[in-house]
Amino acid sequence: MAHAIRTASGADALRAAARIIVPTVAKGAVIRRPLAERAAARFALDEKAIETMHALRRRYGGAALRLGFPLRPQLLLLDAADVERVLLDTPVPFATRSVEKAAALQHFEPGNVLISTPEERRRLRPLHEVALCPRDTVHPCADRFRAIVDDEFVTRQAERGRGRWDWPRFATAWFRLVRRVVFGDAAAGDEGLQPLLNRLRGRANWSYLMPKDRVGRARLLARIAHLADSADAQALAARMPEGEERASQIAQWLFAFDSAGMATFRMLALLAAYPQHRQRLSDEAANPDRAGDFARRCLLESLRLWPTVPAILRETGEDVLWGDEIVPAGIGIMIYAPFFLRDELRIPQPHVLQPDLWLAGDAVPARGLIPFSAGAGLCPAHSLVPQLAAMVAAALLAEGQPADLSVRLDPHRLQGTLDHYRLSLSITARAAAQSSE
Ligand code: HEM
Repeated sequence: MAHAIRTASGADALRAAARIIVPTVAKGAVIRRPLAERAAARFALDEKAIETMHALRRRYGGAALRLGFPLRPQLLLLDAADVERVLLDTPVPFATRSVEKAAALQHFEPGNVLISTPEERRRLRPLHEVALCPRDTVHPCADRFRAIVDDEFVTRQAERGRGRWDWPRFATAWFRLVRRVVFGDAAAGDEGLQPLLNRLRGRANWSYLMPKDRVGRARLLARIAHLADSADAQALAARMPEGEERASQIAQWLFAFDSAGMATFRMLALLAAYPQHRQRLSDEAANPDRAGDFARRCLLESLRLWPTVPAILRETGEDVLWGDEIVPAGIGIMIYAPFFLRDELRIPQPHVLQPDLWLAGDAVPARGLIPFSAGAGLCPAHSLVPQLAAMVAAALLAEGQPADLSVRLDPHRLQGTLDHYRLSLSITARAAAQSSE
């Protein structure tokens, strides 16, 4: 049941801006800023944002909170029942296209489904589903993807052997994998693609405050279109028909695979911190019949503990009845996911790895379990991403055990930020890993 709306006092609106919105925007909504990520870890900014959300909920009793910012009034959701309603009633009356999101994504993917109208969405969303297969626990190209994972994470690493994995090493292997999965083998060495995209994502972090680089955007979209035209038959791009602003749709994949890489790398760190779960995952990896279900849940835990999409934004597309009030069209709605994903009210021991939380599925909005969103805007790669993560974990666990983390993780209370830029770990031969525990 949706709650009422209450208006935050001036001081609380400022507190929400300073402790929740500004740090989230500073970290980078479209591409992470390494210095801001480091500051968040050092000064526990994510923990502080969550504490602020708790304080607001205690004060306003779970009502949706109207933040009366002069230029852009927002509703900040404090209760999972409201989260569920907003996500399930997307795209009408709650549109995925919000002013901020549209201004940001237009920097590099102007025709993307995320910022489409409900009519355009009806046409565009199925194209992503045909390619990414969200309802399949095993993607039709899974065998091909597994071969690519083994090639990038084992065969090509042979020279460096069991050396340390830090983010640059992991990301190099990961983005070669991404280009092969999206376009095919010929794109593996196209090292220029990601920097071209990332430069525009850097501008997109500033949303409408930064002018569009139309020339850069046209170059990016032309390059994606060219790669898609010549994609391998078993590549994701080959499953997306030409037209329909295909390059804008695929730009979102390339952008979002960054999140998937971070989450997979952090999942390896979790496995180092929890030997019992690592063992369970190794056993599963050795048994192909079990199709990576435990690994899938570990990946979801990586995202629950350190969400890569912290703010899910919506906008009222028309006047909406909320409690006994009418919320006019054009009001922004913010779901601050880290609060719901670690909420003691619905998740016992929220700061501890608990893969079994996900036995009920990848999106349980009534419990606030929404790392991939939910409803009509649910990430269409919510099944593919855990599959790829499971393949990477299986490939590396066959080599040895993740151990010797550069960052201390307390398995009884995991910190609110895990700065993947400063994370490194070793893949250690089994016997050595056990003797160091
Ligand atoms: C850990 C990795 C990922 C996470 C946590 C994630 C999360 C999300 C979330 C929360 C949304 C909804 C955003 C909103 O409603 O505003 C979304 C949408 C989307 N994601 Fe992902 N995503 C991930 C990876 C991917 C990948 C790898 C792809 C493509 C290969 C992808 C494709 C999309 C698309 C196309 C949408 C728009 C869906 C729509 O509006 O109907 N995502 N994702």
